[in-house]
Amino acid sequence: MDARTGADSPATPAESKAPQAINLADYRPPAFQVDQVDLTVDLADRDTRVVARLTVRRARAGATDLTLDGDPAMRLDGVTIDGEPVAETRLTRVAEQLTIADVPERFVLETVTRIDPVDNTRLEGLYKSGGIFCTQCEAEGFRNITFFPDRPDVMARYRVRIEADASAYPVLLSNGNRVEAGTLDGGRHFAVWEDPFPKPSYLFALVAGDLGRLGDSFTTRLGRPVTLNIWAARADLDKCGHAMASLKRAMAWDEQVYGLEYDLDEYNIVAVGDFNMGAMENKSLNVFNTKYVLASPETATDDDYDHIEGVIAHEYFHNWTGNRVTCRDWFQLSLKEGLTVFRDQQFSADMGSAALKRIDDVRVLRSHQFSEDAGPMAHPVRPSSYIEINNFYTTTVYNKGAEVIRMMHTLLGAEGFRRGIDLYFERHDGQAVTCDDFAAAMADAGGVDLGQFKLWYTQAGTPEVHAEGSYDPGAGRYTLTLTQRVPDTPGQTGKAPMHIPVKMALLGPNGQRLDARLAQGEGRADAEGFLLDLREASQQFVFEDVGVRPVASLLRDFSAPVRLTTDQSRDDKLFLLAHDDNAFARWEAGQDLAGDLILGLVADHAAGRALDVDPAFVQAIEQVIADAETDPALVAEIATLPSEVMLGQRMDEVDVDGLFAARQTVRETLGRALAARWQAVYDAASKRLAAGCDAADARQQRRVKNLALGYLGAAGAAGLRLAEAQYDAATTMTDRLAALRVLANADDPARERVLADFYARYEDQPLVIDKWFSIQAVSTRADTVERVAALMDHPAFTLANPNRVRSLVSAFSQLNQVRFHDASGQGYRLLADTVLKVDKLNPQIAARLVGPLGRWRRFDATRRSAMRSELERLVAVSDLSKDVYEIASKSLA
Ligand code: PHE
Ligand code: ZN
Repeated sequence: MDARTGADSPATPAESKAPQAINLADYRPPAFQVDQVDLTVDLADRDTRVVARLTVRRARAGATDLTLDGDPAMRLDGVTIDGEPVAETRLTRVAEQLTIADVPERFVLETVTRIDPVDNTRLEGLYKSGGIFCTQCEAEGFRNITFFPDRPDVMARYRVRIEADASAYPVLLSNGNRVEAGTLDGGRHFAVWEDPFPKPSYLFALVAGDLGRLGDSFTTRLGRPVTLNIWAARADLDKCGHAMASLKRAMAWDEQVYGLEYDLDEYNIVAVGDFNMGAMENKSLNVFNTKYVLASPETATDDDYDHIEGVIAHEYFHNWTGNRVTCRDWFQLSLKEGLTVFRDQQFSADMGSAALKRIDDVRVLRSHQFSEDAGPMAHPVRPSSYIEINNFYTTTVYNKGAEVIRMMHTLLGAEGFRRGIDLYFERHDGQAVTCDDFAAAMADAGGVDLGQFKLWYTQAGTPEVHAEGSYDPGAGRYTLTLTQRVPDTPGQTGKAPMHIPVKMALLGPNGQRLDARLAQGEGRADAEGFLLDLREASQQFVFEDVGVRPVASLLRDFSAPVRLTTDQSRDDKLFLLAHDDNAFARWEAGQDLAGDLILGLVADHAAGRALDVDPAFVQAIEQVIADAETDPALVAEIATLPSEVMLGQRMDEVDVDGLFAARQTVRETLGRALAARWQAVYDAASKRLAAGCDAADARQQRRVKNLALGYLGAAGAAGLRLAEAQYDAATTMTDRLAALRVLANADDPARERVLADFYARYEDQPLVIDKWFSIQAVSTRADTVERVAALMDHPAFTLANPNRVRSLVSAFSQLNQVRFHDASGQGYRLLADTVLKVDKLNPQIAARLVGPLGRWRRFDATRRSAMRSELERLVAVSDLSKDVYEIASKSLA
């Protein structure tokens, strides 16, 4: 039989130009459920054979036709129902779907398909990476492996038989427990895996390869032993220890904090070099990007260590928040992602410093999510429409989604939140549910009304909150007026006020918290001040018994993802920077001051005035670094200036060159004026490191030492010599890379030498070579565009590896504002050219590159039109993927 009609012809331009949007409002429960999936996967490079036996049950009365999803590139070799071949007349195969007419109420469907994993450069479905067969099914990759109702509300039990060449693929893995294994004729072997937990198809996984194993074990609090395995290339096994230790910490933490225990006998992690995202939470068989597994002090930075710990924990936490309870449909993606990001943030805060973790998370949110929320792709945490779901694995769904969960945690308190989580699992374990179900569990367990709060799921855009305070000394009364506005976003105007939790405190002249009484306005006093409920467009909060003029410390710990402006003076902010007892708020005051200063200088630059740095700011930073010995990491955070990207968000029109010049001037001024201080900080930290200190202290010392090195490098030649010496003597990647960064930005004879040395040292370590590409891509030097273009022709550069593309092209276009936005437009052209080339290989990665061009409205007329014309060039391409089409066309709209 041949059911391939129409399947192999490439999509016509008309089809690819007007892809269908999928709408939340059109959701219908599935017409058929699948209870059991039996797969036999016979692995071969160009011709893998997949036999799927599905036990199917009608779920919607009156449904007669079964529609399955299936990639047009799959060859369908046979279809039977209850053992009988299905007549060709009952089969319709159109685009991505196969429909079988007149099926019975219950039946066993068997299909035979053939696929080509080697040809799969999209890295979705079954593909090969470095000689390893692996799968990636979220969101809709399972349909590239076999025909299936590929939607998360179809949950089945899986039994998987893998057959492969025994010498090339000695390790055969899938979800659940291995129940059988043995040898076959012709040098082949097999393994059978059974997963007892019903799961959606996106959590299916299979791996086959010649992999090394790092084994360990964990005993759950109920005494169940769990075998833990990390599988990687043998040469990388010595770099898996940190990931393993992180996994065990995550398992223990989830038991302690949430009472959640692992539920199978085995937990496998496989590290592969070609991966579209960071990692994937497939049931008991996580597949990871090597970037989030491999680490040694010589090859990974301190930040890399943190990211690995966070991602390992994230995927582990998904076992409950994502796998045991999953999403009803992909509009609910934040149900699992927002919640799991929040959980991994909490975990990392507990493993290290809560304040530093919060600062880091807010920095990520502001630099990425706030710009997304202000651009053409702005969408709510729960989107209501999409063309390609892969485009909605966004910082809004993940990071703003986590902020929404965090606000519930703030509103309910830790205990109330825990009761809410318990109720959520009590109600929904084993189900595919919605964000409403989650919020209902929280509201019921916490006894709170989340009606207005739920606007956070449906209204896009970053709310703007403005605060004004006034003090009446005679009455001892302080009045705080908060106003809010939610900006228009594509498709959404005239939004309602949100429920915004505002943590705050009133501080007295020595920084002490004042015991005032909240006499008017919704809110409550807590151990650290007050938690106010801002619910209206404008609201007054009146505090009585305030004996002295207070300074308000507002939005402590960043209690809501809003843009806050205040009527506070420079002196109030300097006071908060010096005295606020909330570390986050203290950092925030410093960032705010730095921003005010730099934006003032941008105006001076535009007006042709000299750039004079406010000495009060220099003095404030000098005071901050006096604490470098007691709190080195926090000092380093405070003394780090906000990025040009973040500063640009505060301007009506981004002045690319002015921002660069102004920020650079402040860096150089701080470097020169405080050179002796920086040198002292550098020396003290180096001495402490040389004397030997514990790991946590060592990384704090490196952090502050490398901050000082950066300022010394900005100050002049002596700093560059110090960087060169540090580069040569470095024993950690953190130190070597920090020194390389300073030199890569400089016009210095040592620059080329150290870059060449770095390449030669790490040539055989792809993750380190990624750093080599990135550091050149983010260089502030004026020749960076040409340099990036030349690096694209470097023998080690390839468009086929997502990490490599990100290391060069994403780093350049997303982090290097001044050079990417070079007035010549070369950066834009380079990006669009790359998008088109990558689109042929991997549409998902191509679409993720488009973002920076979509920000065209934020720039001056010349840049605006250059960016627009690149977008127009993209949408005019006839065989563009729907992934790129969606982003590029929405960016132009
Ligand atoms: N679900 C993964 C995570 O957040 C991310 C992912 C999405 C990976 C889609 C691959 C494909 O942990
Ligand atoms: Zn996730």
